Amino acid sequence: MNPLDDASRYQHYVYAYPHKTAYRRIEPALDLAELWARERRDHLFVYLHVPFCEIRCGFCNLFTQPVPEADRVEAYLGTLARQVAVVRRALDAGGVFAFSRAAIGGGTPTLLDAGQLERAIDLVRAVGAPRGIPMSVETSPETALPDRLAVAVQHGGADRISIGVQSFVDDECRAVNRPQRVDDIHRALRAIRDAGPATLNVDLMYGLPGQTAASWRASLAAALAYRPEELYLYPLYVRPLTTLGRKGARAGVHPDDAARVELYEQGREQLLEAGYRQVSMRMFRLAAAGAGAGASYCCQEDGMIGLGCGARSYTRAVHYSSEWAVGARGVREIIDRWIAKPDDAFAVADYGFVLDDDEQRRRWLILSLLSDEGLDVDAYRARFAADPVDDPALAQLAALTTRDGGSLRLTAEGLARADAVGPALFSEQVRRRMAEYELS
Ligand SMILES: C[S@@+](CC[C@H](N)C(=O)[O-])C[C@H]1O[C@@H](n2cnc3c(N)ncnc32)[C@H](O)[C@@H]1O
Ligand code: SF4
Repeated sequence: MNPLDDASRYQHYVYAYPHKTAYRRIEPALDLAELWARERRDHLFVYLHVPFCEIRCGFCNLFTQPVPEADRVEAYLGTLARQVAVVRRALDAGGVFAFSRAAIGGGTPTLLDAGQLERAIDLVRAVGAPRGIPMSVETSPETALPDRLAVAVQHGGADRISIGVQSFVDDECRAVNRPQRVDDIHRALRAIRDAGPATLNVDLMYGLPGQTAASWRASLAAALAYRPEELYLYPLYVRPLTTLGRKGARAGVHPDDAARVELYEQGREQLLEAGYRQVSMRMFRLAAAGAGAGASYCCQEDGMIGLGCGARSYTRAVHYSSEWAVGARGVREIIDRWIAKPDDAFAVADYGFVLDDDEQRRRWLILSLLSDEGLDVDAYRARFAADPVDDPALAQLAALTTRDGGSLRLTAEGLARADAVGPALFSEQVRRRMAEYELS
């Protein structure tokens, strides 16, 4: 697997390392109070996961259950409140701590009604994250309703609303099982602008069945009419156990690599011309966006507290979560078990990945290289007593990186190949575990 080889360009979207398919049981389970007592605790991030959607989109392998029954959503929120109380006690046991960012994602958080969404936000506060820190809430075209947006922005103080649009062409949405109509999208975007968060983020996808250069240009133009402060352009991946994955190659849903590369270049150019700056392979930010807009992740060592079933938590050396599944039965069973957990079970990490020194170093290398900031060479040296250029895997990427002051960054070509660059830096252990993982 060589990132310079065009045949292996679309390997993995690396937004975390190690990938959750490398997680396994942690035995014996680790006590959360002890785990978090050892951490730097002045810049924590809290992520609350709502694992429910209106329907499962054809491409989606996220941890979510479509069309949940009303009592199930209530049971979920009840369990979340129990988890929050336990996690808060574990944090308090280690002394002072402070949150600096929050996010509510999914699934579709705005599938919750306004009262339920308010309770979810109150739980973010209850774990210790104050109003006034940056907070992002995810939504979808049919559920971005004014009452829910008012709860998120006015009551909750969310300064970023992120909406998955994917395409402004009805046929393209239908081809990937998205229930939305173009009218819904426009109504939702207007409602978000009316609610007034500082940052509107729009997710779009390229490589969709039936999508052409012209229809991709038109979707981007339609999104640009709202001048979103941020745009994410995702190349379509067809993954196992998703509806598209099950349809398989016969149905012609597997996007062609060459087509994705062309649509990427075209989209990138269109956004740069419209005044956006490229932050990563997928992310573009309006150059004129205010300083507060979408501050990106700025320290590799910040801890993340995940709340809810499907959320991950990160300390420096331990990443943990509940289990993961994509198939309907697997997801349902994991949520059932999670709701039935006694309080004590939320006080430990029993499923995840323990990172040794080498894995911690790789994580730093991969995430900073793929991010906006690039790899701060002095900070890396101070933390790992080694020079990043001594890493043989990185040496192999020399043609795709450039030194800019004290930082090592991906070149434009490196950014375009980020989904091959990240995986090229995975350890053997992580690769093996990912290959052995049995998805349900
Ligand atoms: C957290 S997800 C979903 C957000 C929200 N639930 C929605 O779909 O409206 C963020 C984005 O990842 C992208 N995405 C998810 N699965 C994908 C796949 N298989 N290939 C490419 N992009 C994908 C979609 O653009 C999606 O909006
Ligand atoms: S893409 Fe978003 S709305 Fe669709 S199933 Fe996945 S999480 Fe739900």
